[in-house]
This record gives sequence, C-alpha cells and structure tokens, in this order.
Amino acid sequence: MLEIERLAVSYGEVAALRDVSLTINKAEIVTLIGGNGAGKTTTLKTVSGLLAPTAGGIRFEGHSIVGLSPDRIVARGIALVPEGRHVFPQLSVENNLIVGSYLVRDPAVVRDTLDQVYAMFPQLKERRRQLGETLSGGEQQMLALGRAIMSRPRLMLLDEPSLGKSNPCLSAFGRDDPARRAKRACRPCAVRTRLCHRKRPRRPVGRLCQFET
Ligand SMILES: Nc1ncnc2c1ncn2[C@@H]1O[C@H](COP(=O)(O)OP(=O)(O)O)[C@@H](O)[C@H]1O
Ligand SMILES: [Mg+2]
Repeated sequence: MLEIERLAVSYGEVAALRDVSLTINKAEIVTLIGGNGAGKTTTLKTVSGLLAPTAGGIRFEGHSIVGLSPDRIVARGIALVPEGRHVFPQLSVENNLIVGSYLVRDPAVVRDTLDQVYAMFPQLKERRRQLGETLSGGEQQMLALGRAIMSRPRLMLLDEPSLGKSNPCLSAFGRDDPARRAKRACRPCAVRTRLCHRKRPRRPVGRLCQFET
C-alpha cells in the first residue's frame, strides 16, 4: 500500500534521513521505533508532503506521491495525526472535526463519519460545542484522531499517539491502543511512531520497524 524506497531528507545542510526503506501492507499496523532524533517524525512529515525528500521514492497504492502538496496527499487517502495534536483552540470540537472533512464532497458521508467518530469517542460528542482549547490533553488527542478520521483515510500516520506515561490519553484509551481504535473505526492501516530506546517496547502493536540513530 505504501512503499518508501531509499528516502533521504535534509533540513538545510543537516541530513535527517538517509536510505530509509519501508513497506506498509494493507490492514497492517506498523510501529516505527527509535530514540529522539532518529527520524520518525521526519518520515511521517515527508510522507504527508510537509517536507520534500532530497532522494528516494514514496508510492501510495502504486502511484508516486513525491512532490504532491499536503492537501493532495490527504485527498489520496493519507491522514497525519501530528505530535502535539494541534487542535484549533478557538473552534468548537465539532468544527475541529468538520475541518478534517474539508475534502469530502458528500455531506451525507461527512455526517456518517461524524457519527462514527462520536460513537468511538462519546466524550467528544458530549463536548461538541466546547472550544478545542477547553479539552484535556487526552481529549485533544481523541479530537486529533477524530479529525484525521473525518478525511476518510485509508492510511493513518500517528506521531507519538501515546507519548508520556502520565498522558491522560492513556487513561482515556485504557489498554486500548489509539492506533487499534482508529483502525477499527474506519479500517485504514496505520503507521505510528513511538519513542523507544529498547529494542522492543513492552507492548508492541503490529509490526515494528526500528530506526537507527
Ligand atoms: N525543523 C528542523 N530543523 C532542523 N533539523 C531538524 C528539524 N526537525 C528535526 N530535525 C532534525 O532531524 C533529525 C530527525 O528528527 P525527528 O524526525 O524529529 O526525529 P524523531 O521523531 O525520531 O525524534 C534530528 O537530528 C533533528 O534534530
Ligand atoms: Mg518525533
């Protein structure tokens, strides 16, 4: 479904990724693990079109997506849930979700997807008229996931969805991994990152792909 081949990305003079190759198959959850600065976020941002590679290829469902703008990449079916969530603080919860569906033309599909997100995260439904900034950290993580689901993605990229042991996200989700929950909701496959200094995290989800620093 997603094929990354010999990808290289630089920030100015500084090389951040070199020779990264990775294949994600349909219906798979792949966790990218690696220490701080290993290049996990850079990889997800590059797949999303927020950064341009200096070398290598990225193919999604058989077509190259290198050079496409981020909105074209969303339209192709890839959604990024960025680290730090980035919900719109001055928009209501519902409008934050609606923003995620701005490329979906059929209002009935938007309505159905909104219902799916509310069924998955009842807390968001209860708070749908509240401003984004009034949500707790865990609720904002749900909102960021929900917003990504609103674009009806076939591939979701989740950057550090469960960072920090005291993150309210963990208690909100319980033992249920957010990537699994997102996968059940709309059946895309998912790539997520996880900061990890061990060879294997304690509770691995899906296939692991280790980044060397
Ligand atoms: N905006 C930036 N400008 C310059 N260098 C950056 C920037 N963002 C990340 N880097 C560098 O790129 C490398 C990979 O970072 P990143 O992808 O954020 O790693 P990870 O997500 O695995 O912690 C690091 O060396 C980091 O310092
Ligand atoms: Mg990162």
